[in-house]
Amino acid sequence: MTKQKILISRRWPEAIEAKLQEDYDVTLNQSDTPLAVEEFQSALANYDAVCPTVTDKITAELLDVPSPRCKILGNYGVGFSHIDLDAAKKAGITVTNTPEVLSDCTADLAMALILMVARRASEGEREVRASDWTGWRPTHMVGTKVTGKTLGIIGFGRIGQKMARKCHFGFDMKIVAQDAYPVKPEALAETNATLVDTIEEVLQQADFVSLHCPGGDENYHLINADRLKLMKQNGFLINTARGEVYDADALVDALQSGTIMGAGLDVYEGEPNINPRLKECENAVLLPHLGSATLETREAMGNRVLDNLADFFGGREPRDKVA
Ligand code: DGY
Repeated sequence: MTKQKILISRRWPEAIEAKLQEDYDVTLNQSDTPLAVEEFQSALANYDAVCPTVTDKITAELLDVPSPRCKILGNYGVGFSHIDLDAAKKAGITVTNTPEVLSDCTADLAMALILMVARRASEGEREVRASDWTGWRPTHMVGTKVTGKTLGIIGFGRIGQKMARKCHFGFDMKIVAQDAYPVKPEALAETNATLVDTIEEVLQQADFVSLHCPGGDENYHLINADRLKLMKQNGFLINTARGEVYDADALVDALQSGTIMGAGLDVYEGEPNINPRLKECENAVLLPHLGSATLETREAMGNRVLDNLADFFGGREPRDKVA
């Protein structure tokens, strides 16, 4: 039986690439450099499936290929705001993602950001590595207590709920949540979370505000200068969602003027380019989009793509179909 032709846009974990090679006529991206628009278009014309990831912009223009052979985009990643779903549908291409398997690790990293920024861990490490530490003293690098504080969650989906559990059960935190979509009462009851109607209420009530909403146009600069002003002066903003969800210039202004106390960021608008002003903020912890970056999760994400492809080519509806 001839195997389906699959193109993978970036390197994936070794074990997953080996499975792909067993099951498909697969083209891997050994150089691990991003593909150009023309390379994607040629793949759409010549492969049965193309597997992009969250850094590949799959626009309507890119998808405008006459009679594409490709019938499925098996996205490696849960977010899909980089794919024009309407254009994919129009082109008759199914799109899948990889939910659930990365929720714990992404929430773990959001927790790490809370601890790092509140307890000034990056600042401290920079001081030690620069041999600038002069020793313990009562007023040295005093931070903010995390245990017992209020966590505000914007976007109470899978990752937001995991975050609530970690913070509530691990750090005795009170949870205030907001979501643009209905939230099941059981999901709130588990952590005794209070659902509020507006983002403004979360910002006003929380000591730590953690973003877990989708990116894309619907949430572009959701956290802007006006909203940052509503946060507590000793409050912190944490973002492991998408870079476009906050206005980086407004955030820098808030960090520099003392409007808020600090920020822990894993994602950036236009990443890997980062607004250079952010790097000047000692009170910002900046990580390079590491939310799902554990071997266990990255393999699980790969297996999820494999499941989606197997369903699709087996004539079944893929479990993670988003378009
Ligand atoms: C995703 O999957 O959308 C993350 O941002 C990368 O794991």
